[in-house]
Amino acid sequence: MTSKELSIYDYMFRYIIVGDMAVGKSCLLLQFTDHKFRHQHELTIGVEFGGKTIEVKGKNIKIQIWDTAGQEAFQAITRTYYKGAIGALLVYDITRHETFEHIDRWLNEIKANGSKDICCILIGNKKDLEDQRQVKFEEGEKLAKENNLLFLETSAKSAENVQEAFMQTAEKILEQITKTGVDPTAPSKNVKITIDEDEEEKSEKKKCC
Ligand code: GTP
Ligand code: MG
Repeated sequence: MTSKELSIYDYMFRYIIVGDMAVGKSCLLLQFTDHKFRHQHELTIGVEFGGKTIEVKGKNIKIQIWDTAGQEAFQAITRTYYKGAIGALLVYDITRHETFEHIDRWLNEIKANGSKDICCILIGNKKDLEDQRQVKFEEGEKLAKENNLLFLETSAKSAENVQEAFMQTAEKILEQITKTGVDPTAPSKNVKITIDEDEEEKSEKKKCC
């Protein structure tokens, strides 16, 4: 499929990425959108944005992502973004157990501030650093099961499972829409039904100014 074809989309899903500082949220986003990895930690200030259109089960889905700051000081800003998200990536670092212990806190933030229809995936990032692992795969899997979350271990460095994390979340959201017949991304919220490229360009430009 060409990029021109992919610019026409059936749905737009907004995702939010949350988790402690330096777990790799921005790197996951960069790997997903640009297939790149950044070695240095550039602290996210407030919220950053990214996006990409993917194909899931024959539907073109534009994914718009809010990459939030893990630093405590920015939590008040982050909270204002939960409501509009239909997907959430909860990220911990498999080499720092405390980041896994804090997942409960992030889940509570989502429950308190997010939509009831939000679809969450738990992500254990930095899978490439196996020799420094502090969180067992089974621990992540168990927590995900208990809280009805999707689960994957990823590496934003090697790209392992990064596309899959975004894709599986989209598949689950789409499945939910098909099953219930209710589209929680409803036109009034954030769905876009097949617009052409020129229109999309205009709206992107408007957002920048
Ligand atoms: P905040 O914006 O401060 O909340 O941090 P963040 O979660 O966005 O972390 P960021 O993506 O900036 O990554 C933090 C550090 O971890 C950087 O030095 C990255 O290079 C490194 N890093 C991120 N993902 C991986 C990974 O999968 N493997 C390895 N080895 N390093 C990673
Ligand atoms: Mg960041």
